[in-house]
Amino acid sequence: MIDKIQTLTEEIKNLSATLPEQVEELRIKYLSKKGIISALFNDFRALSPEEKRQLGQPLNILKNFATEKINSLRENLSASASDDSAALDLSRTETPLPLGSRHPLSIVKNEICDIFARMGFSIAEGPEIEDDWHVFSSLNFAADHPARDMQDTFFIARNPADVLLRTHTSSVQTRVMEKAQPPVRIICPGRVYRNEAISARAHCFFHQVEGLYIDRNVSFADLKQVLLTFAREMFGPQTQIRLRPSYFPFTEPSAEMDISCNICGGKGCAFCKGTGWVEILGCGMVDPNVLDACGIDSKEYTGYAFGMGIERITNLKYRVKDLRMFSENDVRFLSEFEAAKR
Ligand code: PHE
Repeated sequence: MIDKIQTLTEEIKNLSATLPEQVEELRIKYLSKKGIISALFNDFRALSPEEKRQLGQPLNILKNFATEKINSLRENLSASASDDSAALDLSRTETPLPLGSRHPLSIVKNEICDIFARMGFSIAEGPEIEDDWHVFSSLNFAADHPARDMQDTFFIARNPADVLLRTHTSSVQTRVMEKAQPPVRIICPGRVYRNEAISARAHCFFHQVEGLYIDRNVSFADLKQVLLTFAREMFGPQTQIRLRPSYFPFTEPSAEMDISCNICGGKGCAFCKGTGWVEILGCGMVDPNVLDACGIDSKEYTGYAFGMGIERITNLKYRVKDLRMFSENDVRFLSEFEAAKR
Protein backbone atom coordinates (compact mmCIF):
# COMPACT_ATOMS: atom_id res chain seq x y z
CA MET A 1 0.00 0.00 0.00
CA ILE A 2 2.83 2.37 0.73
CA ASP A 3 3.97 2.03 -2.89
CA LYS A 4 0.48 2.81 -4.09
CA ILE A 5 0.42 5.93 -1.92
CA GLN A 6 3.71 7.08 -3.38
CA THR A 7 2.67 6.51 -7.00
CA LEU A 8 -0.60 8.30 -6.41
CA THR A 9 1.20 11.28 -4.81
CA GLU A 10 3.40 11.59 -7.91
CA GLU A 11 0.42 11.23 -10.20
CA ILE A 12 -1.62 13.90 -8.37
CA LYS A 13 1.33 16.29 -8.29
CA ASN A 14 1.36 16.31 -12.09
CA LEU A 15 -2.38 16.76 -12.60
CA SER A 16 -3.51 19.61 -14.80
CA ALA A 17 -6.80 20.87 -16.21
CA THR A 18 -7.90 23.50 -18.70
CA LEU A 19 -11.65 23.31 -18.17
CA PRO A 20 -13.78 23.28 -15.01
CA GLU A 21 -15.37 19.99 -16.16
CA GLN A 22 -11.93 18.36 -16.16
CA VAL A 23 -11.35 19.48 -12.58
CA GLU A 24 -14.67 17.93 -11.64
CA GLU A 25 -13.72 14.67 -13.35
CA LEU A 26 -10.45 14.57 -11.39
CA ARG A 27 -12.30 15.23 -8.16
CA ILE A 28 -14.63 12.32 -8.87
CA LYS A 29 -11.73 10.09 -9.87
CA TYR A 30 -9.69 10.68 -6.73
CA LEU A 31 -11.91 12.08 -3.99
CA SER A 32 -15.51 10.93 -4.44
CA LYS A 33 -16.96 8.08 -2.36
CA LYS A 34 -16.18 5.66 -5.17
CA GLY A 35 -12.84 7.28 -5.95
CA ILE A 36 -9.33 5.85 -5.76
CA ILE A 37 -8.51 7.33 -2.39
CA SER A 38 -11.75 6.15 -0.77
CA ALA A 39 -10.95 2.66 -2.04
CA LEU A 40 -7.59 2.85 -0.28
CA PHE A 41 -9.35 3.84 2.95
CA ASN A 42 -11.59 0.77 2.52
CA ASP A 43 -8.53 -1.49 2.12
CA PHE A 44 -7.01 0.23 5.15
CA ARG A 45 -9.87 -0.99 7.39
CA ALA A 46 -8.89 -4.61 6.76
CA LEU A 47 -5.26 -4.12 7.80
CA SER A 48 -3.65 -5.35 11.03
CA PRO A 49 -3.21 -2.82 13.90
CA GLU A 50 0.53 -2.73 13.25
CA GLU A 51 0.03 -1.88 9.56
CA LYS A 52 -2.63 0.66 10.43
CA ARG A 53 -0.14 2.48 12.69
CA GLN A 54 2.33 2.67 9.84
CA LEU A 55 -0.02 3.64 7.03
CA GLY A 56 -2.61 5.87 8.74
CA GLN A 57 -0.60 9.05 8.50
CA PRO A 58 0.66 8.70 4.90
CA LEU A 59 -2.87 7.92 3.78
CA ASN A 60 -4.30 11.05 5.42
CA ILE A 61 -1.50 13.16 3.95
CA LEU A 62 -2.34 11.81 0.51
CA LYS A 63 -6.01 12.70 0.92
CA ASN A 64 -5.23 16.27 2.03
CA PHE A 65 -2.71 16.69 -0.77
CA ALA A 66 -5.27 15.58 -3.37
CA THR A 67 -7.93 17.91 -1.94
CA GLU A 68 -5.54 20.90 -2.03
CA LYS A 69 -4.36 20.10 -5.53
CA ILE A 70 -7.88 19.92 -6.92
CA ASN A 71 -8.91 23.12 -5.15
CA SER A 72 -5.92 24.94 -6.54
CA LEU A 73 -6.65 23.71 -10.06
CA ARG A 74 -10.18 25.08 -9.68
CA GLU A 75 -8.98 28.47 -8.34
CA ASN A 76 -6.45 28.94 -11.13
CA LEU A 77 -9.12 28.30 -13.68
CA SER A 78 -11.56 30.82 -12.22
CA ALA A 79 -8.80 33.48 -11.89
CA SER A 80 -7.85 33.14 -15.54
CA ALA A 81 -11.53 33.13 -16.49
CA SER A 82 -11.99 36.59 -14.93
CA ASP A 83 -8.85 37.81 -16.74
CA ASP A 84 -10.46 36.80 -19.99
CA SER A 85 -13.65 38.66 -19.24
CA ALA A 86 -11.63 41.80 -18.35
CA ALA A 87 -9.94 41.66 -21.72
CA LEU A 88 -13.38 41.50 -23.29
CA ASP A 89 -14.80 44.52 -21.41
CA LEU A 90 -16.73 46.20 -24.23
CA SER A 91 -17.42 49.31 -22.16
CA ARG A 92 -13.74 50.20 -22.08
CA THR A 93 -12.67 53.06 -24.34
CA GLU A 94 -10.19 52.37 -27.05
CA THR A 95 -7.91 55.21 -25.95
CA PRO A 96 -7.71 56.53 -22.37
CA LEU A 97 -9.95 59.55 -21.75
CA PRO A 98 -8.04 62.64 -20.60
CA LEU A 99 -9.08 63.89 -17.17
CA GLY A 100 -10.87 67.24 -17.13
CA SER A 101 -9.73 70.13 -14.97
CA ARG A 102 -11.53 72.55 -12.73
CA HIS A 103 -12.73 75.81 -14.29
CA PRO A 104 -10.47 78.76 -13.38
CA LEU A 105 -13.43 80.64 -11.89
CA SER A 106 -14.22 77.64 -9.67
CA ILE A 107 -10.60 77.42 -8.55
CA VAL A 108 -10.57 81.09 -7.56
CA LYS A 109 -14.08 81.00 -6.04
CA ASN A 110 -13.03 78.05 -3.84
CA GLU A 111 -9.89 79.90 -2.81
CA ILE A 112 -11.87 83.02 -1.84
CA CYS A 113 -14.43 80.93 0.07
CA ASP A 114 -11.66 79.02 1.89
CA ILE A 115 -10.03 82.25 3.06
CA PHE A 116 -13.28 83.60 4.48
CA ALA A 117 -14.25 80.20 5.92
CA ARG A 118 -11.02 80.30 7.94
CA MET A 119 -12.21 83.65 9.35
CA GLY A 120 -15.53 82.13 10.46
CA PHE A 121 -17.80 82.94 7.50
CA SER A 122 -20.24 80.32 6.33
CA ILE A 123 -21.54 79.99 2.77
CA ALA A 124 -25.07 81.01 1.80
CA GLU A 125 -26.67 80.56 -1.61
CA GLY A 126 -29.89 81.77 -3.20
CA PRO A 127 -31.84 81.79 -6.49
CA GLU A 128 -30.57 83.45 -9.68
CA ILE A 129 -34.13 84.36 -10.70
CA GLU A 130 -35.17 86.95 -8.15
CA ASP A 131 -37.80 89.57 -7.44
CA ASP A 132 -37.53 93.33 -7.11
CA TRP A 133 -37.72 93.22 -3.31
CA HIS A 134 -34.65 91.03 -2.74
CA VAL A 135 -32.43 92.64 -5.39
CA PHE A 136 -33.42 96.31 -5.07
CA SER A 137 -36.15 97.48 -2.68
CA SER A 138 -34.91 95.77 0.49
CA LEU A 139 -31.45 97.13 -0.28
CA ASN A 140 -32.51 100.78 -0.24
CA PHE A 141 -32.43 101.38 -4.00
CA ALA A 142 -34.39 104.53 -4.84
CA ALA A 143 -37.46 104.07 -7.06
CA ASP A 144 -35.70 105.81 -9.95
CA HIS A 145 -32.29 104.08 -9.53
CA PRO A 146 -30.78 103.32 -12.97
CA ALA A 147 -30.22 99.62 -12.05
CA ARG A 148 -34.01 99.24 -12.13
CA ASP A 149 -33.93 100.16 -15.80
CA MET A 150 -34.21 97.64 -18.65
CA GLN A 151 -30.88 98.97 -19.92
CA ASP A 152 -29.08 97.54 -16.92
CA THR A 153 -31.13 94.58 -15.71
CA PHE A 154 -32.68 91.55 -17.41
CA PHE A 155 -36.36 91.54 -16.49
CA ILE A 156 -38.32 88.34 -16.99
CA ALA A 157 -41.68 89.90 -16.10
CA ARG A 158 -42.56 93.45 -15.12
CA ASN A 159 -45.28 94.32 -12.62
CA PRO A 160 -46.98 93.71 -10.37
CA ALA A 161 -43.98 91.98 -8.71
CA ASP A 162 -41.00 92.29 -11.02
CA VAL A 163 -39.21 89.04 -11.79
CA LEU A 164 -35.60 89.49 -12.88
CA LEU A 165 -32.14 87.92 -13.07
CA ARG A 166 -30.23 89.03 -10.00
CA THR A 167 -27.66 91.74 -10.68
CA HIS A 168 -25.68 91.00 -7.52
CA THR A 169 -25.64 88.34 -4.80
CA SER A 170 -26.61 90.94 -2.17
CA SER A 171 -30.09 89.45 -2.70
CA VAL A 172 -28.89 86.36 -0.82
CA GLN A 173 -27.89 88.58 2.09
CA THR A 174 -31.46 89.92 2.25
CA ARG A 175 -32.83 86.37 2.21
CA VAL A 176 -30.56 85.35 5.10
CA MET A 177 -31.30 88.49 7.16
CA GLU A 178 -35.05 87.95 6.76
CA LYS A 179 -34.77 84.55 8.42
CA ALA A 180 -31.87 84.83 10.88
CA GLN A 181 -31.12 87.09 13.80
CA PRO A 182 -27.54 88.30 14.42
CA PRO A 183 -24.80 87.30 14.65
CA VAL A 184 -24.81 86.72 10.88
CA ARG A 185 -21.49 86.00 9.19
CA ILE A 186 -21.89 84.77 5.62
CA ILE A 187 -20.37 84.88 2.16
CA CYS A 188 -22.54 84.48 -0.91
CA PRO A 189 -20.85 83.13 -4.06
CA GLY A 190 -22.84 82.95 -7.26
CA ARG A 191 -23.60 84.00 -10.83
CA VAL A 192 -25.13 87.42 -11.54
CA TYR A 193 -26.49 89.05 -14.71
CA ARG A 194 -26.29 92.56 -16.13
CA ASN A 195 -27.53 93.82 -19.45
CA GLU A 196 -24.17 94.72 -20.98
CA ALA A 197 -22.81 94.36 -24.49
CA ILE A 198 -20.34 91.44 -24.56
CA SER A 199 -16.73 92.49 -25.08
CA ALA A 200 -13.26 91.63 -23.79
CA ARG A 201 -13.96 93.67 -20.67
CA ALA A 202 -17.68 93.14 -20.02
CA HIS A 203 -20.10 90.23 -20.17
CA CYS A 204 -23.83 89.82 -19.62
CA PHE A 205 -23.12 87.46 -16.74
CA PHE A 206 -20.29 87.15 -14.27
CA HIS A 207 -19.63 85.77 -10.79
CA GLN A 208 -19.43 87.37 -7.39
CA VAL A 209 -18.58 86.62 -3.81
CA GLU A 210 -20.28 88.99 -1.40
CA GLY A 211 -19.88 89.02 2.36
CA LEU A 212 -22.00 90.18 5.28
CA TYR A 213 -21.31 90.42 9.00
CA ILE A 214 -23.88 91.69 11.48
CA ASP A 215 -23.52 91.76 15.24
CA ARG A 216 -23.37 94.22 18.14
CA ASN A 217 -20.58 96.83 17.82
CA VAL A 218 -19.31 95.86 14.37
CA SER A 219 -17.13 98.70 13.12
CA PHE A 220 -15.48 99.91 9.94
CA ALA A 221 -12.12 98.92 11.47
CA ASP A 222 -13.34 95.29 11.63
CA LEU A 223 -14.21 95.49 7.94
CA LYS A 224 -10.83 96.92 7.04
CA GLN A 225 -8.93 94.23 8.94
CA VAL A 226 -10.92 91.39 7.37
CA LEU A 227 -10.34 92.81 3.89
CA LEU A 228 -6.62 93.33 4.53
CA THR A 229 -6.32 89.73 5.70
CA PHE A 230 -8.20 88.56 2.63
CA ALA A 231 -6.00 90.61 0.24
CA ARG A 232 -2.79 89.26 1.78
CA GLU A 233 -3.98 85.65 1.79
CA MET A 234 -5.09 85.95 -1.82
CA PHE A 235 -2.29 88.01 -3.35
CA GLY A 236 0.63 87.55 -0.95
CA PRO A 237 1.84 89.11 2.31
CA GLN A 238 3.42 92.15 0.59
CA THR A 239 -0.01 93.34 -0.65
CA GLN A 240 -1.15 96.83 0.42
CA ILE A 241 -4.76 97.98 0.45
CA ARG A 242 -6.38 101.39 0.12
CA LEU A 243 -10.00 102.38 0.67
CA ARG A 244 -11.56 105.17 -1.39
CA PRO A 245 -14.93 106.73 -0.51
CA SER A 246 -17.71 105.55 -2.79
CA TYR A 247 -21.47 105.15 -2.91
CA PHE A 248 -23.81 102.15 -2.78
CA PRO A 249 -27.50 102.45 -1.85
CA PHE A 250 -27.19 99.69 0.77
CA THR A 251 -24.07 100.83 2.65
CA GLU A 252 -23.20 104.01 4.50
CA PRO A 253 -20.38 104.91 4.55
CA SER A 254 -19.30 103.09 1.39
CA ALA A 255 -15.87 102.48 -0.06
CA GLU A 256 -14.05 100.84 -2.92
CA MET A 257 -10.95 98.88 -2.13
CA ASP A 258 -7.80 98.88 -4.24
CA ILE A 259 -4.84 96.57 -3.78
CA SER A 260 -1.29 97.41 -4.75
CA CYS A 261 -0.94 96.14 -8.30
CA ASN A 262 0.36 92.59 -8.00
CA ILE A 263 1.61 92.61 -11.57
CA CYS A 264 4.12 95.49 -11.26
CA GLY A 265 4.36 95.43 -7.46
CA GLY A 266 2.92 98.96 -7.26
CA LYS A 267 5.43 100.67 -9.55
CA GLY A 268 2.89 101.33 -12.28
CA CYS A 269 2.22 99.27 -15.42
CA ALA A 270 -0.29 98.94 -18.25
CA PHE A 271 -2.56 96.75 -16.10
CA CYS A 272 -2.92 99.38 -13.34
CA LYS A 273 -2.75 102.20 -15.90
CA GLY A 274 0.41 103.49 -14.27
CA THR A 275 -1.24 104.12 -10.89
CA GLY A 276 0.19 101.14 -8.97
CA TRP A 277 -3.31 100.30 -7.65
CA VAL A 278 -6.15 98.13 -8.90
CA GLU A 279 -9.73 98.15 -7.65
CA ILE A 280 -11.01 94.77 -6.50
CA LEU A 281 -14.18 95.28 -4.45
CA GLY A 282 -16.91 97.48 -3.04
CA CYS A 283 -17.75 97.58 0.65
CA GLY A 284 -19.24 99.58 3.49
CA MET A 285 -21.28 99.58 6.68
CA VAL A 286 -24.76 98.15 6.12
CA ASP A 287 -27.25 101.05 5.87
CA PRO A 288 -29.63 101.00 8.89
CA ASN A 289 -32.57 101.16 6.43
CA VAL A 290 -31.49 97.76 5.07
CA LEU A 291 -31.31 96.20 8.53
CA ASP A 292 -34.77 97.52 9.42
CA ALA A 293 -36.24 96.39 6.09
CA CYS A 294 -35.00 92.87 6.82
CA GLY A 295 -36.32 92.73 10.38
CA ILE A 296 -33.07 93.41 12.26
CA ASP A 297 -33.08 96.17 14.87
CA SER A 298 -30.67 98.83 13.57
CA LYS A 299 -30.44 100.45 17.01
CA GLU A 300 -28.98 97.31 18.47
CA TYR A 301 -26.94 95.92 15.60
CA THR A 302 -24.48 97.17 13.02
CA GLY A 303 -22.82 95.31 10.18
CA TYR A 304 -20.52 95.50 7.22
CA ALA A 305 -20.83 94.14 3.69
CA PHE A 306 -18.49 93.74 0.77
CA GLY A 307 -18.69 92.32 -2.73
CA MET A 308 -16.21 91.37 -5.43
CA GLY A 309 -16.21 89.94 -8.95
CA ILE A 310 -14.52 86.55 -9.25
CA GLU A 311 -13.51 87.26 -12.88
CA ARG A 312 -11.62 90.36 -11.78
CA ILE A 313 -9.72 88.50 -9.05
CA THR A 314 -8.95 85.70 -11.54
CA ASN A 315 -7.66 88.23 -14.10
CA LEU A 316 -5.38 89.68 -11.49
CA LYS A 317 -4.06 86.31 -10.39
CA TYR A 318 -3.73 84.72 -13.82
CA ARG A 319 -3.69 87.72 -16.18
CA VAL A 320 -6.54 86.64 -18.42
CA LYS A 321 -6.93 89.45 -20.92
CA ASP A 322 -10.31 88.62 -22.43
CA LEU A 323 -13.35 87.92 -20.22
CA ARG A 324 -15.00 85.93 -23.00
CA MET A 325 -12.44 83.14 -22.55
CA PHE A 326 -14.18 82.14 -19.31
CA SER A 327 -17.36 81.10 -21.09
CA GLU A 328 -16.00 79.69 -24.35
CA ASN A 329 -15.02 76.35 -22.80
CA ASP A 330 -11.87 75.92 -24.86
CA VAL A 331 -10.17 73.02 -23.06
CA ARG A 332 -6.71 74.32 -23.96
CA PHE A 333 -7.48 77.47 -21.98
CA LEU A 334 -9.31 75.69 -19.17
CA SER A 335 -6.57 73.14 -18.55
CA GLU A 336 -3.88 75.77 -17.91
CA PHE A 337 -5.10 76.76 -14.48
CA GLU A 338 -5.03 73.64 -12.35
CA ALA A 339 -1.45 73.06 -13.46
CA ALA A 340 -0.54 76.69 -12.68
CA LYS A 341 -1.94 76.26 -9.17
CA ARG A 342 0.11 73.10 -8.48
N1 PHE B 1 -23.39 94.58 -4.50
C1 PHE B 1 -22.32 95.42 -4.97
C2 PHE B 1 -22.09 95.16 -6.47
O1 PHE B 1 -22.66 94.26 -7.00
C3 PHE B 1 -21.03 95.14 -4.25
C4 PHE B 1 -21.10 95.52 -2.82
C5 PHE B 1 -21.50 94.60 -1.86
C6 PHE B 1 -20.77 96.78 -2.39
C7 PHE B 1 -21.56 94.96 -0.54
C8 PHE B 1 -20.82 97.15 -1.08
C9 PHE B 1 -21.22 96.21 -0.15
O2 PHE B 1 -21.35 95.86 -7.10
